[in-house]
Amino acid sequence: MPRSLITGVGMYVPPKVVRNDDLRAYFDTSDEWIYSRSGIKERRWVEEPASTAELGYYAAQQALERSGKRPQELDLIVFATLSPDMYFPGSGVLLQHKLGLDTTPALDIRQQCSGFVYGLAVADQFIRTGMYRTILLVGAEIQSTWIDYSPEGRTVGVLFGDGAGAVVIEAAENAHRGILSTHLYSQGAYARELCVAEPSSATRQHILPGSYGMRAYMNGKEVFRHAVQRMGEAVQEALSAQGWQAEEVDLFVLHQANIRIVQAVAEFFGLPMDKFYNNIHKYGNTTAASIPICLTEAWEEGRLQPGSKVILAAFGSGFTWGSVALIW
Ligand code: UT7
Repeated sequence: MPRSLITGVGMYVPPKVVRNDDLRAYFDTSDEWIYSRSGIKERRWVEEPASTAELGYYAAQQALERSGKRPQELDLIVFATLSPDMYFPGSGVLLQHKLGLDTTPALDIRQQCSGFVYGLAVADQFIRTGMYRTILLVGAEIQSTWIDYSPEGRTVGVLFGDGAGAVVIEAAENAHRGILSTHLYSQGAYARELCVAEPSSATRQHILPGSYGMRAYMNGKEVFRHAVQRMGEAVQEALSAQGWQAEEVDLFVLHQANIRIVQAVAEFFGLPMDKFYNNIHKYGNTTAASIPICLTEAWEEGRLQPGSKVILAAFGSGFTWGSVALIW
């Protein structure tokens, strides 16, 4: 059975840097509050008008170039996002067209912060069964356009940023490297603890008087509590599946929602923070893009070498969570 090997990584973030203090133009907030609660110093925002598929395209171009693949060699595109260009269709088909492709299949994954982990699991299954050999997986988000800039929006609004990351995944025969195991979970009982409930097929809110369009709701403390527990479980499951001790893993890449979540997981396993790749201080929470952006920067810094043992884990809206164990 072929293994799934990541052969190229890429990322794109918009050039506009928005520092914590810049957010005081919109919210009653402070650098001190944001940094001490989340670890975020700044994030990137697009200049409007912008397109999530376009951000994904820039990241994809870099990943394709680094893997030495042409778009025409792709068998499948998987696009993870909570902020698609359109209500429907998904952004995957828009990226497919931007890449100059004619009929290559494209599917969107709507698992929010867990989107990239879910996407890797999906790609891995297509490769293991032999159905596809070369897959492009993209996580991309534009969140600055849905942030609620009213006073009620400040808790959520200061956390999120825009950006994209991409990987090319290829089938490799007789490989000792690649994706070893994936574990996925969801728990819809908590769907309303972190959601954008409208626009919704359940209401005609957008044409009703008093309509406020999109507004994210997050029960921050509840989400935090579950994130620490589930991320820890997901990491443990990846370790157990491989029979690895936590100490022998070269790099953990956890979804970048809050540095305190990563610190709590590190503490649980008795690991130093330098085993965890973090860049939340620069980009905030980029949802489905956060893990591939981390992978790209970690690779550029030489922290991912052939043979490196890596564990990825994510938790987010849904609730959804999961982990991946791989050898780079
Ligand atoms: O990516 C998907 C997963 N998402 C997450 O994992 C996020 C999980 N949650 C969190 O990261 C944290 O709960 C937050 C960063 C969102 C909040 O941190 P917290 O330590 O739980 O803060 P809090 O909710 O206890 O807020 C404390 C205070 C409140 O004021 P009062 O009621 O104590 O007077 C808030 O109104 O901070 C206030 N506050 C703010 N103050 C300044 C809320 N937002 C802000 C703000 N600036 N932006």
